[in-house]
Amino acid sequence: MTNGEQYKYYYIHTFGCQMNVSDSEKVAFLLEQKGYRRTEDMGKADIVIVNTCSVREKAEQKAHSLLGRLRQTKTVKPHLVTGVVGCLAQQWGARYFKKMPHLDFVCGTHNIDKIPAMIEAVIKGGRKVEETRFYAHVPSLDLCVPSTDGRLSAFVTIMQGCNNFCSYCIVPYVRGREESRPSRDIVREISALARQGVKEITLLGQNVNSYGSTLTEAVDFSTLLKMVSAIEGIERIRFTTSHPKDFSEALIDSFVSIDKVCEHIHLPVQSGSNEVLKRMGRGYTIEEYVGKLEHLMSVCPSISITTDIIVGFPGETDEYFQKTIDLMKKVRFDNIFSFKYSDRLGVAAAGFDGKVPETIKAQRLQILQALQSSITLEKNRAQEGKIESVLVEGTSKGCPSDVTGRTRGNRIVNFTGSSFLVGTTVPVRIAEGYAHSLRGRTLSGEER
Ligand code: 5AD
Ligand code: SF4
Repeated sequence: MTNGEQYKYYYIHTFGCQMNVSDSEKVAFLLEQKGYRRTEDMGKADIVIVNTCSVREKAEQKAHSLLGRLRQTKTVKPHLVTGVVGCLAQQWGARYFKKMPHLDFVCGTHNIDKIPAMIEAVIKGGRKVEETRFYAHVPSLDLCVPSTDGRLSAFVTIMQGCNNFCSYCIVPYVRGREESRPSRDIVREISALARQGVKEITLLGQNVNSYGSTLTEAVDFSTLLKMVSAIEGIERIRFTTSHPKDFSEALIDSFVSIDKVCEHIHLPVQSGSNEVLKRMGRGYTIEEYVGKLEHLMSVCPSISITTDIIVGFPGETDEYFQKTIDLMKKVRFDNIFSFKYSDRLGVAAAGFDGKVPETIKAQRLQILQALQSSITLEKNRAQEGKIESVLVEGTSKGCPSDVTGRTRGNRIVNFTGSSFLVGTTVPVRIAEGYAHSLRGRTLSGEER
C-alpha cells in the first residue's frame, strides 16, 4: 500500500445509538478535511469504517457480520483499508487483528480524532494500527461539526461516558468515565448550527441530568438549557438520555419555564419491579420513578413520555415481569424501546444467578410489545382533533403531495402541503392517529 492517490472514497457504516451517529459525523468531517470523499456505496469505497455498538448482543452480531464480510471484499480489492471504530473496537482492541486479520485499524471511543492519521499510517506505512487508550479529556469532545447540508435538526454531544455502572451495562467500560463539555463550547457549536439554518437541537449524553458535575464552572443541566434557549434561530430543544435518579425538580420546571424545551422526555425505567431495579443497580424505586413522572405530568400535562425496558434480567420471575406490565398500564408510556437482556462481557450481571431462558425472554418481549402497540395506538388516536405545532422536515417519500414533520411531543405527522413549508412550523389539526404516525390537516385561515 503505497499509492495515496488510490484512496479517495470512504464509506462509514454506523451501528447503535445516536452517540455513534454523532461520532461518525465527526469522523466524516475529519476525513473530508483531508480530501477524502464520502460514498454511500460500499463497493466504490477505498476505505471502509465500521462504527460498532456493544450495548446488546444483537447490535454486536450485526457489526460482526458486516466486519466478517469485509474479508471477502478485501480479497477482490486488496488496497481496501478496513477499520473498526466504537464500542466493540474499544472492547477488543488489538485482539481484533487475530480474530479478523483483514482489519487494518482499530480505533476506540476516545480516539476518533486520530482516524485520519491511522489511515495514513496504514496506507503509507503499510502497518496495522490500534488506538484504544482512555483520556481524562476526550479530544473529540472539542470537535464542532458544522452542518453544511441544510438540515433542520442536529445532535450535539454535551457529555460523554458514564459513571453509573448499572449491573447489565457495558457503556461505562467502553466509553469511560463521565466528562462534560464546557458550556461555552456547546453554545458556540449550537450558535454556528443555528446560523446554518438548524432549528432543532438534541443534546446528547449517556446521562444528561448530571451534566456539569465534572466542570469547574457552576453549571447544571437546567442552566445549560437556559443558555441554549437564548440562542437565536433555535426553536426546539430536546435531550437524551435522562436518568431517573438524577431527574430533578429544576429540570421538571424547565419543561414549563423554557418555551423551546419540547414536551417529550425519554426516561428509561428498565423494569417495574423494585427487586429487579435493585439488582440492576439503578438507584431508584418504582415509587420514586412514578412520583417524579406524576409531578412532571401535573405541571406539564401535554408531556409525552417514552422509556427503555429490559425483559428477562437475571432473577426476573413471572411476578416481577408482571410488575413491569402493571407499570406500563399505570403510566401508559407514549412509546417504549424494549430489549431482551443479554450478557455483556465483564459486567456484574453476567455473573448473576437466575438467568432467564431465551424462550421466556422472547415470550415476555412479545407480551410487552403487544401491550405497548395498543397503548401507542390509543394515545395516537387520542390526539385526534388537537391542534399541534409541526416542524416540517421534508416531503413525504411515498407521496410527493404530502409533507412530514414532528410535533413537540415527537410524534410524526403527515399532511397535504407544498415543499415550501419545509423548515417552517405550522399549526396542524390532527385528523387521524395510526400505530406509528398521525395524519393532519393544515388549518384554514379562520381557524388560525
Ligand atoms: N441487555 C439488554 N438491554 C440492555 N441495555 C443496556 N444493556 C443491556 C443489556 N445487557 C438497554 C437498556 C438501555 C438501552 C440503551 O439498552 O434498556 O437503556
Ligand atoms: Fe448504561 Fe446505566 Fe450508564 Fe445508562 S446510566 S449508560 S444504562 S450504566
